[in-house]
Amino acid sequence: MQNVVENKYNAPTEVRDIDIVNTLELEQLAKEIVPHGGYDYISGGSGDEYTLKQNIKSFNHKGILPRVLADVEHPDTATSILGHDIKAPFIMAPIAAHGLAHETKEAGTARGVAEFGTIMSISAYSGAKFEEIEKGLNGSPRWFQLYMSKDDELNKKIVDEAKQDGATAIILTADSTISGNREKDMRNKFVYPFGMPIVSRYLTGSGANMSLNNIYAQSKQKISPRDVKFLADYSGLPIIVKGIQAPEDALLAMGAGASGVWVSNHGGRQLDGAPGSFDTLEAISKAVAGRVPIIFDSGIRRGEHIFKALASGADVVAIGRPALYGLALGGWKGVKNVFDYFHTDLKRVMQLAGTQTVEDIKNTTLVDNK
Ligand code: LAC
Repeated sequence: MQNVVENKYNAPTEVRDIDIVNTLELEQLAKEIVPHGGYDYISGGSGDEYTLKQNIKSFNHKGILPRVLADVEHPDTATSILGHDIKAPFIMAPIAAHGLAHETKEAGTARGVAEFGTIMSISAYSGAKFEEIEKGLNGSPRWFQLYMSKDDELNKKIVDEAKQDGATAIILTADSTISGNREKDMRNKFVYPFGMPIVSRYLTGSGANMSLNNIYAQSKQKISPRDVKFLADYSGLPIIVKGIQAPEDALLAMGAGASGVWVSNHGGRQLDGAPGSFDTLEAISKAVAGRVPIIFDSGIRRGEHIFKALASGADVVAIGRPALYGLALGGWKGVKNVFDYFHTDLKRVMQLAGTQTVEDIKNTTLVDNK
């Protein structure tokens, strides 16, 4: 008999409700069931993981001064962004290869996000096709995150497909023209166990058995404001530039026609030594001055974090790793549980802080924590 050597990856399969005390603990629980290489890829950051840790710590640099004697009987988390009414001021962040966390891949995440009632971001590096993700989304709103090809004709094809799938905005990730120094992936010799159907048209292979370094190398390094304009003109969709950490870049993006600014340091996975994402938000929000919406990510683990980001100028925040841990632990139900957790936690924080609407949160002044 011939020996067939397969790159077997046994992603978790269970679909069930999970108990959540806080989302930080989900990481440890996921570690127990997600294959080692996949877990390290999802949870890890770059270099010393200073920025990864700082993302959570930096929220402590500001405090919420609670107000009392305020009617907080009915906290209302509803808001809207770029024409979508959403149940709460948070959405799903774009993340590659959800199949590392669960066999249902992005379709599982999509269902959890859709059943909760917010926006799904579909990564260009999804392990599932648009049609497969649609099975989970079932018509629910989605944005498409693009890693550009060096070839603009291929970029047009990808954008066409995303539009046909119903994407209502394009997220252009601008901070990842090359990969961060992911030492865990290097040690594990991590390669994706499955392909990336959306971008496979510009890769030398399907994406399967390829490292992130290899895949990034085949995408566009020469990203500039011209790409923002090109995508806006070609797609006719709002372009949100993701990975903004400096106010100057927010202004550059807006000047090139961006309809949204996404403040992020890619979950501490790119430049280690960058500040905690929250520490960059206030200055960017001053520069943007309400002209376009601000989406914020990197480090959101609690309702307090969402509250502080909104009070510092974000319009919505995006949830990344916690949702993927929810997916690993309970499939779509686990994802929905994570979003429900953030909803409940945010309402509690709103009430304790003396606020009742998203507008109230935005009008809250935070204090410097000594
Ligand atoms: C990552 C990319 C693919 O951070 O977004 O792994």
